[in-house]
Amino acid sequence: MAVEHAIVTGSAADFIPPRPSLPRLREASRGCRGCRLWMLGTQTVFGEGPGRARVMLVGEQPGDQEDRQGHPFVGPAGRLLDEALEEAGIDRGSVYVTNAVKHFKWERGAKSKRRIHKKPNDGEIRACRPWLDQEIALVRPDVVVCLGATAAQALLGKSFRVTKSRGQKVAAPFAKAVFATVHPSSVLRAPDARARKEARRALIADLAKVARFLRRGEREVKRGTARAD
Ligand code: URA
Ligand code: SF4
Repeated sequence: MAVEHAIVTGSAADFIPPRPSLPRLREASRGCRGCRLWMLGTQTVFGEGPGRARVMLVGEQPGDQEDRQGHPFVGPAGRLLDEALEEAGIDRGSVYVTNAVKHFKWERGAKSKRRIHKKPNDGEIRACRPWLDQEIALVRPDVVVCLGATAAQALLGKSFRVTKSRGQKVAAPFAKAVFATVHPSSVLRAPDARARKEARRALIADLAKVARFLRRGEREVKRGTARAD
């Protein structure tokens, strides 16, 4: 343990470069030792997407495929997210996608060699937060969408309940609007085909509300009635 402590600083803030830009942050995040997860993951998986995206999607942490490939939401949950975005009328190419925690946390399955996803704890979420704060500050999205409880509680507080407030516009100081919905993995984990279909439909319905909010903003800009805030 002593060794472990010696190589973990406790916060990603210790690795933020001077005069940060997205490329500089991405590069610096590769050497992050803010929490012990750097020893577990293959690589840091930083956010990706247009630097001026109007929408930022925030997941929990990279999964097995993301950890191997080094890109967010490229595994099964990512495929489902792509489909859901498309059906909701949001172009994934115009969205910045990132995670609350940038390293994959896992443990070896008892019976298989598979790496089983483990939820990041509060300390890990807090340690990683400076990367997310920097991404939000630089991209300055109009809308942030929290995918699942980890992202929602990281950005909206521990008392936020996705089940209660999903699909609703929430006020926050860092964007014009914040929405929360379930994590796409939860759709994949639904117990049977019927439950999966319903969970998928509900995820798309939440994302459609985000799409509507964005379209409203576009109309206001066209009419010149957008508030300058
Ligand atoms: N789940 C997440 O929360 N993020 C990813 O990048 C992949 C799966
Ligand atoms: Fe740094 Fe975040 Fe990785 Fe922890 S999870 S080492 S804080 S990038």
